[in-house]
Amino acid sequence: MERKNKVPLSLLFALCVGGCYYDVEETLYGTEGCDPAPGRFAADVEPLLQEHCIGCHGGPTPSAGIAFESHGEVVPLAPAMLGRMVLPSSDPQSMPPSGKLDTCVIEDFGTWIAEGSPNN
Ligand code: HEC
Repeated sequence: MERKNKVPLSLLFALCVGGCYYDVEETLYGTEGCDPAPGRFAADVEPLLQEHCIGCHGGPTPSAGIAFESHGEVVPLAPAMLGRMVLPSSDPQSMPPSGKLDTCVIEDFGTWIAEGSPNN
C-alpha cells in the first residue's frame, strides 16, 4: 500500500496566493498574521522596492528598461509589478528572480494599489 506524503498547509496556502490571486482576493487581503494597516508608499512600498527590485530596476541601465525609483515611475507599473510578485517562484517571469517575497509584503503592496497608489 502506498502512503502519500502530507503537504504542509502553509505550502498549499502559498501556492494558492500565487495561483488564484485574481479569483480569491480575500485569500490575500484577509491574510492572517499580517499587519492590517493599509500599505503606504514611504513606509512599505519604497523599502520593499529598495530591498528587492531597484538593484536591477534602477540606475543608468535598469533591467527591462524600467526603473522603480520614484512614486511617478512606480504608479503606472504597479499592477504589472504585482502580477510578477504573485507568480509562483518556479515561474521564470516571477519577480524578484531570487525567490518569492513574503506574503505579507505582497499584501502590503496590493493594499497600496487598492487604495489608489497614493504618494503617502
Ligand atoms: C536580479 C535582477 C532583478 C530583480 C532583483 C528584479 N527584476 Fe524585474 N526584471 C528583471 C529582468 C532581467 C527583466 C526582463 C525579463 C523579464 O521580463 O522577465 C525583468 C522584468 C520585470 C517586469 C516586466 C517588465 C516588462 O516590460 O514587461 C516587471 C513588472 C518586473 N521585472 C518587476 C520586478 C519587481 C516588482 C521586482 C522586485 C519585487 C523585480 N522586478 C526585481 C530583473 C530583475
